[in-house]
Amino acid sequence: MVQVEEPSVRQEAPAPPQAVSTWSGPAREQAVQRMFTAIAGVYDLNNTLLSFGLHYRWKKIAASFVTPVDQGTALDVGSGTADLALLVEPRMGAQGRVVASDLNYAMLAEGLKKVAGKGRANAITCLQASAEHLGFADNTFDAVTTGFCMRNVGNLPQAVSEIRRVMKPGGRFVCLEFSRPVFGWLRALYDWYSFTLLPWVGTKVARDRTGVYEYLPASIRTFPDQERLCQILRTAGFQHVEYRNLTGGIVAIHVAIK
Ligand SMILES: C[S@@+](CC[C@H](N)C(=O)[O-])C[C@H]1O[C@@H](n2cnc3c(N)ncnc32)[C@H](O)[C@@H]1O
Repeated sequence: MVQVEEPSVRQEAPAPPQAVSTWSGPAREQAVQRMFTAIAGVYDLNNTLLSFGLHYRWKKIAASFVTPVDQGTALDVGSGTADLALLVEPRMGAQGRVVASDLNYAMLAEGLKKVAGKGRANAITCLQASAEHLGFADNTFDAVTTGFCMRNVGNLPQAVSEIRRVMKPGGRFVCLEFSRPVFGWLRALYDWYSFTLLPWVGTKVARDRTGVYEYLPASIRTFPDQERLCQILRTAGFQHVEYRNLTGGIVAIHVAIK
């Protein structure tokens, strides 16, 4: 059965985006949530345009890091429009179950439409939950994935600890997130794209009022780089923490074992 809980996020005008990346805690989280509520309907299209179609390939590779389990249970945190949950579900076997959780009702509703449209509603449950307070019992899931969510949470160390708590011992956490390009020339090009071209397209072409075009690069710039994220995962108690860079480190997949 698929369930989306009642919305707890009100739809309001987005807060000034340039400030969002410098906030922390609940104020930041609320501003980020208002932004996702505003863009939910065009999120997939935006994602495809802004990543030149690469995001789906990145997600496929991330899903390939999930160990197949017969009758397995997996959780995709910050699942949004559920791409990663749909890619992970076949790896949990014919009787497997996946929970696609997200704090944002509007994003989750888009995910639910996609899951139902692909006939996977019997295997994937969409559930509104915060990454920092997942609400599942200890040691519940064989695997946890997350795609482009950790950058947005109000308290990253808490989210990572909470994810570890709900995983079974030996389970694998796969985190797909923007990171730091490894080549100087790529960093320069990427910075120009992020801080010059993207905001220009946002204001002049898309006439965007959600702030996503400013928030996206700012949130990427302030997110821990590859090594720092490894440290955060180890501090939370994860072992065998490793990462793989994709597209020159524009994104990285971190894999960690409970
Ligand atoms: C950039 S979208 C990524 C969606 C999807 N995973 C993907 O890869 O396309 C980030 C998602 O994380 C969710 N999110 C942000 N903060 C969250 C939190 N504290 N707890 C749960 N979800 C959160 C947002 O609502 C949004 O749906």
